[in-house]
Amino acid sequence: MDFGMKNRMAGILSPKDGRCVMLAVDHGYFQGPTTGLEKPREVVAPLLPYADSLMLTRGVLRTCVEADMRIPIVLRMSGGTSVLKEDLSNEDITVSTEDAIRCNASALAISVFVGSENEKATLSNLAKLCDDGQKYGIPVLAVTAVGKDMVRDARYLGLATRICAELGAQVVKTYYCDKFEKVVAGCPVPVVIAGGKKIEERDALKLAYSAVRDGAAGVDMGRNIFQSRWPVQMIRAVRMIVHEGLTDDQAWTELQKMVG
Ligand code: R5P
Repeated sequence: MDFGMKNRMAGILSPKDGRCVMLAVDHGYFQGPTTGLEKPREVVAPLLPYADSLMLTRGVLRTCVEADMRIPIVLRMSGGTSVLKEDLSNEDITVSTEDAIRCNASALAISVFVGSENEKATLSNLAKLCDDGQKYGIPVLAVTAVGKDMVRDARYLGLATRICAELGAQVVKTYYCDKFEKVVAGCPVPVVIAGGKKIEERDALKLAYSAVRDGAAGVDMGRNIFQSRWPVQMIRAVRMIVHEGLTDDQAWTELQKMVG
C-alpha cells in the first residue's frame, strides 16, 4: 500500500488492535429523517469523542459537522433511491471522488446488492470506486445491503463479502449471522458489522461481542447507538467490547453503572 492508503486505513482500523467503532449516521440518504436522527448535529456532537470514524453523507457532513473535528470521515458515495420504492437496490454513485477528496474523506462507502436485479450495476459501481480509491489512496468500504426477501445466512453473506473483496474493497460491512466465522474466513479483507434495526441495549451489546469474538474487525453501528435511551453510554459500552476486550456481560454492567 502507498502512504496515503495506509495512512487513511490507520484512521479507519486502529493500528493498535486493527479494530474500529465506526458511527453510522448516513441513514437519511434513503430513509429521510430517520427516528433519532432528525437533527444530526445534536445527535452526532456528543458521540464523536467515542467514535473512531464517522460514516455519513456529504450533505450532513457539510451542514451538521464542525470542520475542526478530527474524526476520520467515511463518506457515503452511493444513493439515488428511497424508502418509497419497493426495490432499494437501484443505486448509483452520487458523489464524485473529487468532492470526496474536498470533504477530506478517509474512506469511500458504497452499497452493493448481490443477488438483486441491480447486482451488476452496483458491483460495477463498486469496482469503479475501487479504481478511484487506488488512484487517490482512499480505501473503499463496501456495504453489503440485503434485500427484504434474502436470507442473512453465512452462505449468502459469505458470497457477498467475498465478491466485494475480490472487486477491490479494502473493508467490507455486513451483518452478523450464525457461523459468522465462516464469513470472516472467506473474506480476505477486514469485515465489520452493521448493527441493524434497534434492539434492546443488552442484545445489541451481545451482537457486538459475538461479532468481534467471531472475527469481525469491529462495528459500523448506527440505530443501536443513536436510537438508544443512552446513546453516549451505549457507544462507550460498545467501545469497551471492541477495544478493551470486555464481554457483553461486562459491558452491560459498565453501561448500567454509567446510567446510574
Ligand atoms: C444504511 O442505512 C447504512 O449503511 C447504515 O450506515 C448501516 O446499516 C449501519 O447502521 P445500522 O447500525 O443502523 O444498521
